[in-house]
Amino acid sequence: MSTTTTPATPAAATPGAFYRTGRYAPVAEETTRTELTVRGHIPPSLHGMYVRNGPNPRGAAGHWFTGDGMVHGVELSDGRANWYRNRYVRSTTFTHGAPFVRDDLTIDRAAGMINTNVIQHAGRVLALSESSFPYELTGHLDTVGAFDFDGRLTTAMTAHPKICPTTGELHFFGYGYTAPFLTYHMADRLGRLVHTEIVEVPGATMMHDFAITAQSVVFMDLPVVFDLELAARGTMPYRWSDTYGARIGVLDRAGRRPVRWYEIEPCYVFHVLNAFEAGDVITIDVVRYPEQWRDGPDDFHKATLWRWTINASTGRVTEEELDDRTCEFPRIDDRLAGLEHRIGYAVHVDEAPVPTGSILRYDLQRGRRDVIGVGAGRVPAEPVFVPAGPTSAEHDGYLMTYVYDCHRDGSDLVILDAADPSAKPIAVVELDVRVPMGFHGNWLPR
Ligand SMILES: [Fe+2]
Repeated sequence: MSTTTTPATPAAATPGAFYRTGRYAPVAEETTRTELTVRGHIPPSLHGMYVRNGPNPRGAAGHWFTGDGMVHGVELSDGRANWYRNRYVRSTTFTHGAPFVRDDLTIDRAAGMINTNVIQHAGRVLALSESSFPYELTGHLDTVGAFDFDGRLTTAMTAHPKICPTTGELHFFGYGYTAPFLTYHMADRLGRLVHTEIVEVPGATMMHDFAITAQSVVFMDLPVVFDLELAARGTMPYRWSDTYGARIGVLDRAGRRPVRWYEIEPCYVFHVLNAFEAGDVITIDVVRYPEQWRDGPDDFHKATLWRWTINASTGRVTEEELDDRTCEFPRIDDRLAGLEHRIGYAVHVDEAPVPTGSILRYDLQRGRRDVIGVGAGRVPAEPVFVPAGPTSAEHDGYLMTYVYDCHRDGSDLVILDAADPSAKPIAVVELDVRVPMGFHGNWLPR
């Protein structure tokens, strides 16, 4: 069975913008599919929903990062795929065009395009973008509304919060182009916002991700800076700066000392794989770009996996490229967020002769990288690790992601064996629709 509604017509493709065409192009409809074909066997232990967010612009062509948010979910239980749904995140901007900047020049944090990530914390499903409040969703992906932690949150919320596996706390930050430029927040395991702290930085930068360790919070203050002139033109208002510098800030989670900054080589990082701390040393693995957006906001460079080793005794950071293969969308077993990880995953894509992607599986203790192929002409999105069981080892579980098939312009939900890169998929849930290449998602266990 399928049902379909069409809330609006998506924008026509804009020549030259890769994110408007092919596997990135928006879909025209919201739909529900309940009779799904499955190849292989869905592990019966999987009860929950895999859901991923991404831009699906309805209107005039804008930047990749500013399209209306659309979530795509598949519910699994008892070895079955119950449904696929895609739904717009109905922010006030989506429903009635609420402007992000009001007439009196104040910012409406309930407005915006909620297009970047989906998490589950303290029983709430939250869709996230980094410029707005989170939006709560139902288990069927309908929008409940903006969630501001009962009025306690007054900044934006990053789309990359971290859930501490030890305490269940939700650590996050908000950044903005007006002071305070950076604010750190922590909600307890019950979802109550219990800590808010301004972190002083020299200026307004685009800060997409951060890291936690068991003892610290790690910020990246990198030289992609806010530009008022670009904002006035209505384009993505950030650009590369040769003068801003680059630094990593380490804040003590227990509040025993102020943030300490460490200078690094200028670069840009959208995504952190993970960080961990032992004695005076913090290790943080990131997907690093040598620079970003010097020639405008479609100027995307190639990124690779790097390790920064921060030594509090010497005040120095050692910077080392771990692998020269380009990658993005790094993930770990989230049960190790802030703790020492051995295994990491990311996506690599070759665009020619036909776009073909693979999942890279790094064993960072052995210095080994395996390539998990998903077929010629097929491109995986961010790989989400799902442990086989609550106490299973770091390598023991599944990788779950949407895979786009260029040949049929459609997508599958693919479940792979995370421990065996050479194995065929454990299960493939075939979708007769395209899931546009979006950003981030998670497995939300019931
Ligand atoms: Fe991201």
